[in-house]
Order: sequence, then structure tokens, then C-alpha cells
Amino acid sequence: MTLHTFPLRWAALALACTALAAQAQTASVEETAKKTAAGAGCFACHTVSHQDLKGGQLPIGPAWEDVAAQYRGKPGAADFLTRVVLEGSNPYASHWKNKAAGIAMPPNAVAITESDARQVVYWILSLK
Ligand code: HEC
Repeated sequence: MTLHTFPLRWAALALACTALAAQAQTASVEETAKKTAAGAGCFACHTVSHQDLKGGQLPIGPAWEDVAAQYRGKPGAADFLTRVVLEGSNPYASHWKNKAAGIAMPPNAVAITESDARQVVYWILSLK
């Protein structure tokens, strides 16, 4: 190894390590969010991925990938959705006509803390 390629190799190695660390972090954000959501009972009504049910039946709550598609890039989405998760949705204004059963979401504040709800919402909004 000549002297001037030496720092370049270290830079490449450092870059590779950073990429790996970022990947590991993404995986653990997802794992933590899924575990929190499962513990709070969210999956009784929601799935992560959109699924076409038999006979055109609609799911109780919208698939979280559909939620991400609807709210991605909208300012204040994370704050708004965190409030909806904690306090429940407006029973007279379903946003999910034709995508979910059309009923309101009950409040979940008894099942999940505000900071956990926020973490789950951040993860939902990151879904593609
Ligand atoms: C008893 C069923 C039920 C449970 C349990 C439930 N949800 Fe929901 N969720 C719904 C329904 C129904 C809607 C659609 C509400 C509407 O159209 O107003 C919804 C909507 C949502 C939305 C989109 C809100 C919006 O305004 O568009 C998010 C985000 C969400 N739920 C997250 C969660 C999380 C996180 C949990 C667990 C802490 C959870 N839900 C638990 C039924 C449920």
C-alpha cells in the first residue's frame, strides 16, 4: 500500500461502517415499534401492509402503509396522528371511506404512553 492510498482506504472503511450502523438502527426502530404496537393491541384492528380481504370486505382500521401514503410529507402529520392514536378519531368524520370499515378508532391512551405512540407513528409514517 502506498502512502497516499492509505487514508482513502480508511475513509472507505469508515463509510461502510456508518452504512452498516444506520441499517442496524433502522431494523431496531422497526422491531421496537412493532413490539410496542403489538403490546398495545393495535394489531387487533390494523395490519402493516395493505391486504385485499375476501369478498371485498374492508379491514377495521386502515393498513399502516395506506396511512403513510395518505400523510407522508404533510406538515404536522406526526403530531396530529399521535393525538388521534391517544384520543381516538372523530366518530363523525372517517377519513378512510372505502379503505376501512368506516368506524371510529377508540382512544388508546389507556394502552400506550404518549412517547410510545409518537415512536409508533414515526415508524408508520416511514413505511413505503
Ligand atoms: C378497536 C380497533 C382499533 C385499535 C385497537 C387501534 N386502531 Fe387505529 N384505527 C382504527 C380505525 C377504525 C381507524 C380509522 C379511523 C377513522 O377513519 O376515523 C384507525 C385509524 C388509525 C390511524 C390513522 C388515523 C387518521 O386520522 O387517519 C392511525 C395512525 C392508527 N389508527 C394507529 C393506531 C395505533 C398506533 C394503535 C395502537 C396503539 C391503534 N391504531 C389501535 C381502529 C383501531
